[in-house]
Parts: sequence; structure tokens; C-alpha cells
Amino acid sequence: MNQITSFEQYKKEYVRSVQQSETFWSEVAESFLWRKKWDKVLDWNFTEPKVKWFDGAQCNITENCLDRHLETRGNQIAIIWEPNNPNENFRTLTYRELHTEICRFANALKNLGVNRGDRVCIYLPMVPEAAVAMLACARIGAVHSVVFAGFSSSSLADRINDSACKILLTADAVYRGEKEIDLKKIADDAMLQTPSIEKCIVLNHRNSAVEMKTGRDIFWNDALENISNGNEAESMNAEDPLFILYTSGSTGKPKGVLHTTAGYMVYSAYTFLNVFNYKEKEIFFCTADVGWVTGHSYIVYGPLLNGATTVMFEGVPTHPDHGKFWDIIDKHSVNIFYTAPTAIRSLQTYGEEIFKTKNLSSLRVLGTVGEPINEEAWHWYHKNVGKENCDIVDTWWQTETGGVLISPIANVTPLKPAFATLPLPGVQPVLLNEKGEEIEGNNVEGNLCIKFPWPGMARTLYGAHERFRQTYFSNYHGYYFTGDGCRRDENGYYRITGRVDDVINVSGHRIGTGEVEDAIDVHEHVIETAVVGFPHDIKGQGIYAFVICGKKIENEEALRNEIKKHVTERIGAFARPDKIQIVSGLPKTRSGKIMRRILRKIAEGDTSNLGDTTTLLDPSVVEQIKAGAL
Ligand code: WTA
Repeated sequence: MNQITSFEQYKKEYVRSVQQSETFWSEVAESFLWRKKWDKVLDWNFTEPKVKWFDGAQCNITENCLDRHLETRGNQIAIIWEPNNPNENFRTLTYRELHTEICRFANALKNLGVNRGDRVCIYLPMVPEAAVAMLACARIGAVHSVVFAGFSSSSLADRINDSACKILLTADAVYRGEKEIDLKKIADDAMLQTPSIEKCIVLNHRNSAVEMKTGRDIFWNDALENISNGNEAESMNAEDPLFILYTSGSTGKPKGVLHTTAGYMVYSAYTFLNVFNYKEKEIFFCTADVGWVTGHSYIVYGPLLNGATTVMFEGVPTHPDHGKFWDIIDKHSVNIFYTAPTAIRSLQTYGEEIFKTKNLSSLRVLGTVGEPINEEAWHWYHKNVGKENCDIVDTWWQTETGGVLISPIANVTPLKPAFATLPLPGVQPVLLNEKGEEIEGNNVEGNLCIKFPWPGMARTLYGAHERFRQTYFSNYHGYYFTGDGCRRDENGYYRITGRVDDVINVSGHRIGTGEVEDAIDVHEHVIETAVVGFPHDIKGQGIYAFVICGKKIENEEALRNEIKKHVTERIGAFARPDKIQIVSGLPKTRSGKIMRRILRKIAEGDTSNLGDTTTLLDPSVVEQIKAGAL
């Protein structure tokens, strides 16, 4: 694959990638292992929408991640796993070992009746088996749907049911910092409502006691008994589904974003190589969880496709102390480190003393992802972690985009703190105004859209193509709408300003306000809820809930705790509201629509100018809400 090494080269490649898009991407694709080459590079329209890359081609992504590396780097470490508990040893898997594990597990899945096209739900902690499971599915053409292990049983059940998964993979338990979480119990609760699940494979990770249901549940190791090592990878069509990954949207129901085989493979590999300027034998450490898209593209697929060594970390950055990330970098001589602004801001609060005893000199490139980074955090990261020697790539992308779209290229693009800078080759961003017109020129702001397909883009929402069209392709005809607002500065550099829809970004986790509202509304005393985001020093955004109750509440604190518990049970602890204000009414228009703009202002503590409130059914509720604001 072509690696970009100078800014001049970037500019040339960019122009070429726009003018001769198909030639550009077919050249990138040449370096992969294909069972059969494509008949057509690209077939698309953004109306239906229909996007097909490398149509007619056949390949298997795991042959590209593993088999083709065996001869040259069979003994190189593919995965380094760092446990949560500092007294336990880390584990490594070489490319050869990983290949064997994946072939065996692929055979075990087949043995349990998993066929090409079947959906497999993966609800596992951050352990190498999560990567093994994903790749084993891809090996046999099953579609993986990884659900973040912080989700509750009811969220897990919703996701399993939406795509009718046949098998659930889970573990006995997981450690998060000091806390042990009983994963199997959560999975059991979910499986009370998931008729499609035939088998549940349970990884014995913590040696915790679990209940096993006869005929349904089987331990991971037992599933591997008498299973052979040899496995012929399934020949997949370019547009066969590779995985589903659920993400939040404006309305309550999560969306099953679907990615397909060849385009995702080419794009995740290309962006990994170029954004991080990856060099042979480097150690790459991404702190995301495999339950999110960052973990898919830049812990598993991108690094392995490039033959890199990828670090998987089970724990949290503050356990046993706030030096954990720096210890891992020091211990494994990490060269490229990729994390979220939230983590940086939270570690920043502990001060710089800790760096005196850590050797971070192996670091060459730093990255951030998931939310806008503020300048202060950027400089802190640059100075204390990068010692002013490492480029920071502020990578903007989404679950739907499959890989990074706008980002500096490390050691190539001149940086500007808090700016994602420029589009990668093949990516054509535009800013649109309210009327849907492209905003020309620089020093402008608008809604960020993309006007031409790139290979890694999502193809549909599982079983909901019309919702896919409506969500992303109907606001602005002929464009993919990202849901983000964006500024373009005087030099054409992009800075993403945040969501313009009803999605909140809490610590880099995307949370739909509708989802939280639905969870709160389940409470017996709650009549109606409106949820908005507000600026939060560490998390980026916090969750503010305005709640109307059906009866007089004697103990408001108790009610708040119950509401938080409801959200934890329905979604997960990460979606718990930070502030809950009990109100007597919500600002609604005469047609019954909640004016969130007003609630957002109140939640931000900025009530000096609430804009026009004359269209409200009852403007006096605004005064009442303002008076009781938290
Ligand atoms: C936000 C995560 C600013 C954005 C890969 C986007 C960012 C949403 C950045 C996608 C960034 C992601 N700067 N904002 N560098 N990266 N975002 O699907 O609002 O979990 O739409 O994908 O995160 O979140 P998702």
C-alpha cells in the first residue's frame, strides 16, 4: 500500500483521489490477497442509497489479517494483552498462534451450527478472545455483532433481537478497576427474552461460579474439545456483510450499522497505515474497547491487516493508579498511542508528577478520537505525554464511516491544536447551510456532509434500509449527512464542533437522548422526560434530565437515585444522568414539540438570552424551570 510521507505528496494524492477515485482505490486494493479480483471498482448513488465497492471480488478478511503474514512474521507478536490486575502477567499471541486460535474457534462455531450469514453476538470483556471471536466469525462468513460489555441485559437483549443472533459469546465475569461484574448473569437475564439464541459460549475468564443451562450453555474450552486446527477460510463476496455494530441515534431505538467485507478491509487498513504513519514492527496501543467502532477498526482489523503489534488493555486508566497508561507504554515500548480526550482530561487533573518515573521515549505518534479535544488538553498531551516530540492526530470519524475521514497524517500534515485538519485521500467533505447549499470558501461554519462514497462507509442499517436513507441521506439530497457541525478555518482546516442532532457525546460514548428518555419514562412516577447535554469539564458533555412526575415527590433525592438505577438497568451505568431536575412542565410549542434549544441553554447555565419563546404554549414554564435549574 502506498504510504504518504510528505505534505506535497498528500496534496497530490488528494487531488488524484478525487479526480480519479476508482483508479486511486483500485491501486490501494492491489496489495491485498484476493480470491478473485473485482469486476467494477465502484457503483453508487446517494438516493436509494446504494454503494458497492469492488463488486464481483472475493476474499476473506482473515486471510489478509493472518494467513498472508505467516511466512514473513509468523513469530511476531500480533496481540499483547494487559490485564486489569497489575499482579497478573500479560499475555502475548504471535501471528501464528492467533491464526491457530482463530481457525480452531471458527471450526468450533461451525460445529455448533453457525453458518455463513448467521449473526453472532459477542458480549465479552477486553480479552484476546474477543478478537479471536470476531475473526473466527469473519473466517466462516458469520456476521459479528459486538455489544460493549458495559451495556445492561435489556440493551443486550434488544441488540440480539434486532439482528436475530443465533449464538451469544460471553464470559463468567469481568473486572473494571476494583469492581467485578458478573457478565454471565447479565447475559442470562438478556437470554430470557431472546428466542433466536441457540447456544451460549462462556469464556472462563475469572474462575467465577456461573450457572450453566443444559443444552444451551457451553464453556469456551469445551467447545474447542476435539476441534481441528485446519480451517479453510470462506470465500466472501466483496459486499457480503462483515459486521453489525449498534449505535445511538436521535430516536430511542439503536441502529444496527452494517459494514461489508472488501471496502471495510481496504479502508481500515489504508487509514491505519497512513493516519498513524505506521512503520514495520511498531507497537500500537489503542485504549478503546472492542465494543465500539474504534476497537473494531484500530485494535483489531487495521493493525492486523498491516501486520502490526496491537495492545489490548482490559482495565481502566486509573487502576491501580493514574499512571496505568504510562506504565503500559513504558513496559511494552509503545510507539503509537491512541486514546480519547476524556481520558486525557481526567488524567490531567492528577498533575504531572507521575511522569517523572515513567519512560515514554518510545512514543512517536499520539492520537485522539471520539469527541472534540479542547486546546488545553491538546497542549497537556503534547507536552507531558509526547514531550513535544510527537505529532497528535486528532481523528474525526464515526461508527458509520468505518474508519477515519478527517485527520492529520502523522509527520506529514502541519498540525493545528484542536483541529482535525484535512480530509484523507478519497474523502470529500462539504459544509452545508440550512437551505442545503454548499458553503464555499474558508472561515465558514455549517453542517458537515460527505459528497462522494469512500470504501469504509456503512452500507445500510441491519433490516432497516429506509431508516438508513432517512437518517443519513434525506436531510440533504445527494449527500451523506454526518450529524456534526463543523468549522473550516482560513486555511481550509476542519474543526468539528459537535453534534447538531439529539445525540450527546459523554466521555466519547454516543448516547441518544431518546434512549435515555425512554429509560427514565419507565419509572412509575414519571410522566414525561426531556434529556439534553451540557458542557462537562471531564466528560466533554454531561446528561441533564428534566422530569415531570405524576404525583408530589416527598423525597426528591430518592427519586433521583431510582431514576439513575433505571437508566443503569435499561442502558448501562455510562448513560446515567448527571443532573435530574423535577419540573412541573416542559417548554412545548403549540404543536406539542419540546423546544430543546431552550432546555439546552438552561442546562448550560446560560439563560440570559433564550431566544424567541413566544411560540410556546405556556411561556411561564420556562421561568419555573430556570428558577429550579441545577
Ligand atoms: C464525535 C467514534 C470531534 C462526532 C469514532 C461523531 C469527534 C461521533 C471526533 C461519532 C473528533 C468523533 N473530533 N468529534 N476527532 N471523533 N467525534 O460513532 O460527534 O462512537 O459524529 O465513533 O463522535 O461517534 P462514534
